[in-house]
Amino acid sequence: MTESIDQQIATLRQQLQAHNYSYYTLDAPTITDAEYDRQIKTLRELEQQYPQYASTASPSQSVGGPVLDSFSKIEHELPMLSLGNVYSENELHEFIERIQNRLKNTQELTFCVEPKLDGLAISLLYEQGKLVRAATRGDGSIGEDVTHNVKTIKNIPHALQGNNIPVRLEVRGEVVMPIADFHAFNQQAIANDTKGFVNPRNAAAGSLRQLDSNITAQRPLAFYSYGIGIIDQGSLADSHYQRLQQLQQWGLPITYEITRETGAKGCMTAYTQLLAKRSELNYEIDGIVYKVDGIALQEQLGFVARAPRWATAHKFPAQEEQTQLLDVEFQVGRTGAITPVAILKPVFVGGVTVSRASLHNADEINRLDLKIGNTVIIRRAADVIPQVVKSLPGAQPQRDIIFPVTCPVCDSEIERIEGEAIARCTGGLYCAAQRKQAIKYFASRKAMNIDGLGVKVVEQLVDEQLINNPADLFTLQADQLIPLERMAAKKVANLLSAIQQCKQTTLAKFILALGIREVGDATAKNLAEHFLTLDAIQNADIAALEQVDDVGEIVARHIVTFFRQVHNQEVIQALLAAGIHWPEVQAKEKHQLPLAGKTYVLTGTLTKMDRNEAKQALQALGAKVSGSVSKKTDYVVAGESAGSKLTKAQDLGITILTEDELLSLLDLNHP
Ligand code: IVH
Repeated sequence: MTESIDQQIATLRQQLQAHNYSYYTLDAPTITDAEYDRQIKTLRELEQQYPQYASTASPSQSVGGPVLDSFSKIEHELPMLSLGNVYSENELHEFIERIQNRLKNTQELTFCVEPKLDGLAISLLYEQGKLVRAATRGDGSIGEDVTHNVKTIKNIPHALQGNNIPVRLEVRGEVVMPIADFHAFNQQAIANDTKGFVNPRNAAAGSLRQLDSNITAQRPLAFYSYGIGIIDQGSLADSHYQRLQQLQQWGLPITYEITRETGAKGCMTAYTQLLAKRSELNYEIDGIVYKVDGIALQEQLGFVARAPRWATAHKFPAQEEQTQLLDVEFQVGRTGAITPVAILKPVFVGGVTVSRASLHNADEINRLDLKIGNTVIIRRAADVIPQVVKSLPGAQPQRDIIFPVTCPVCDSEIERIEGEAIARCTGGLYCAAQRKQAIKYFASRKAMNIDGLGVKVVEQLVDEQLINNPADLFTLQADQLIPLERMAAKKVANLLSAIQQCKQTTLAKFILALGIREVGDATAKNLAEHFLTLDAIQNADIAALEQVDDVGEIVARHIVTFFRQVHNQEVIQALLAAGIHWPEVQAKEKHQLPLAGKTYVLTGTLTKMDRNEAKQALQALGAKVSGSVSKKTDYVVAGESAGSKLTKAQDLGITILTEDELLSLLDLNHP
């Protein structure tokens, strides 16, 4: 049975009220903004169509949520309003037309155009130029007193500077957590096993609405002004744009992306430009705001319900959407890492359709309390891989996610080393998934650079059992390849020639191509330059490997383990037998220099030369100069009032040199 209209309206109002409470009061939204916008839009349309059910208590008529009991309340002298939205160029034209009709004005209007920051609205009250009070928006009429917390935000001035400051001035704007800080905060939260935030906006709101301002003080928040409330005894420009510039002169931060535009065309250009810049900005924005620039015109237009008639927000594509978790697949990576992948009901988010998202590891699944069938919130900020950020029980039956105990590809045991987040298949190159990845990596551009040996071809060759390891590539014959699907004669010829060509390489690229765990291109290069030959690298023990730049104990162990495996030795022999070769690696001059291979640390105050000079002199003789003392340090040069580094060096039994000893060393080594 379909619901009656009044029931539909009542249900929507009830849902929206609950969402308002979670969002504004608890800072813990239970649906995405996009879904909220859709529900409120439906409610407004129904209320317009059926005015007999209109009510001033409807969520369509109010802003924000009820305030928390724990903060003292502040009544806004002028209500803090919200903004209407447009979602398309057409709706923008309608918005401008409505204004022009009201103003009986056919001339093109000038708009102040600003980014719509995704944070928390705040009112700052300055009396005699001093910050005396700060309040959240609350329900628009009554907000929460967050003065102590706001005073910890570094870019909010406690006193304004300059001239003609009104006796009372209320500045309104948004508190945000910059994106880089948000990621750093969440990383730390994961490391500390504490709860992170779903998005930068919740991070800002959750950080500001703390009863203990010491906590707020530790959170990296920032504020940007976008408007003015009370002005008492002061005269301000008659343009919104100029008023914002004035705020900046008084020391209040504004965003860099504010411009003035004419007509719908100007607004659309600004929209396109800001959207293109979205991923480069350090704060999250969810749209652009167009405001009639003339203050007199703004006053003429006035307000309706919860929003001014003279401004609107033009929303960008949502970066968060909700969908359903249909299943979880487990992928096997090159080094056997098992990555759970969420299979989603396709959803349009951040400008693309997303149907898969990485779940990282088992801890992440637990952290999200994820179950198959859940409604999940997917976030895809520009250029970023889609993430599952929250999971909510859905209407569908739920099923636990069972992390496999054996590899889904080769059935070998999966192991998870204590203290490591990643579980791995123990099958090594016995595992087809790892074999495919290893061959893809071998052929990749940075490694052996085999043109035409892309992902699909490798999969095809492994699945057809034509190759099992990188060395098998060199035995491939045209008559084996031609019968394969999508393999025309020309393609086969090109591929075989690329395989031949790759044989001439460098030692660094060959080392990289072997795919040793944690040996990327920089480390491969360092290994080649340090040891000069493949033999020397294969025979190096952990201590010798640790002498190489960037190689610590863990990487050294991976290298030793790799070369110890008989299978790997066989593949290397086969590759060399196939004719892979490289020019002899020239010893870098530094190996012949007198202090080559030695690591020095400088500490304390040097009196006869400055620290930089000493550093450069040591480096010129081939030494490495490091900032911290470790087991790898050979000498510590201790100047006057040397502190903890000297103590540590003594503890580790490292040779300590005085400044004079350093000088004679440098002299001695200078012919
Ligand atoms: S003007 C009277 N300008 O968006 C007009 N609001 O959806 C009131 N917001 O409550 C707001 N950036 O928290 C304005 N440049 C901007 C904004 C902005 C973000 C927020 C603000 C407001 C909400 C409305």
